[in-house]
Amino acid sequence: MNVRITGTGSALPGKILTNAELERLVDTSDEWITTRTGIKERRIAVEGEYTSTFAAEAARRAMAMAGAHPEEIDLIIIGTVTPDFPFPSTACIVQDLLGATNATAFDLSAACSGFLYGVSIAEKFLRSGAARKVLVIGSEVLSRIVDWQDRNTCVLFGDGAGAVVLEASEGDHSLLSTHTFSNGSFWNLLYQPGSGSRNPATESRTIDERLIYLKMEGNDVFKHAVRAMEEAALKALDANGLTPSNISLMIPHQANRRIIDATTKRLGLGPDKLFTNLHRYGNTSSASIPIALDEANRQGVIKPDSKLLMVAFGGGFTYASALVNW
Ligand code: UT7
Repeated sequence: MNVRITGTGSALPGKILTNAELERLVDTSDEWITTRTGIKERRIAVEGEYTSTFAAEAARRAMAMAGAHPEEIDLIIIGTVTPDFPFPSTACIVQDLLGATNATAFDLSAACSGFLYGVSIAEKFLRSGAARKVLVIGSEVLSRIVDWQDRNTCVLFGDGAGAVVLEASEGDHSLLSTHTFSNGSFWNLLYQPGSGSRNPATESRTIDERLIYLKMEGNDVFKHAVRAMEEAALKALDANGLTPSNISLMIPHQANRRIIDATTKRLGLGPDKLFTNLHRYGNTSSASIPIALDEANRQGVIKPDSKLLMVAFGGGFTYASALVNW
């Protein structure tokens, strides 16, 4: 049984936060953010908007494109590090919002690789016949765990969601492979110390020591990201007997323009083979690839029968790739 992407969708907050506005919050500049990251603005959730809000809207749009009814969905996987609550899962909340009464629903914690990890799990359910229609969503409200006093991180992240409907299919327009990788020896280079069992909430630690906020050793993460994304991309190509010249379009995780450029350079892929929207949304973690995928799809950038490569890297470390014959 093959696996086909039959619908894509995305949803973003309406509120835009520009680099110029960030200059008034922390000691930074539009010039620094633009040259070091490529980001110009990001979307920020407002009161009453949660991870489930964007996840459900992105899913509705993907289901509308696929012509899928909520009751037909067998499985909902949400990659997120900013769930509505530690439990229940945001996927269960989204199941309720969608009326997807026949679905099994769970969240998946693989940071920025969460969407591609989800696609990889969905692929196994679909190929085995355990499911026929699956929703995979990446959704984040990172603005609620970012330290707005830390210029090293607060300029990088944004909120939003992207989703796909994956279906069992017999045609050739299918997922060719998925690969997932983890390297836990670097877990403490990118993490949120104060939200789990290791540092239970106390006023002094959680708030005063700012443990509730995301921490990142940006420079170290940068170097690992470039190497890992190259490795994940090459694994996908090798597994399918392809070379970079066979790739029509690459959608990488949108963390930093310099990471993306270094990765494509190592792979020998030209800028014409790249889709990015990082300048408008910043790093939306698990949502970045499905948002970009939905935009590329709706803009007609992905041609039928073209080879689409998606590559992710994130906290854990986790990294992953997926290759699609569109
Ligand atoms: O989503 C998956 C994982 N995340 C990533 O892939 C992100 C990986 N890391 C990065 O994208 C980059 O490392 C950053 C954008 C975070 C930082 O860029 P960098 O070129 O690695 O800069 P750096 O950390 O080496 O810092 C350079 C300087 C420092 O000043 P000193 O020590 O040289 O005086 C920082 O204090 O830039 C300073 N700096 C800033 N200056 C103005 C850091 N943040 C800012 C800022 N505005 N916002």
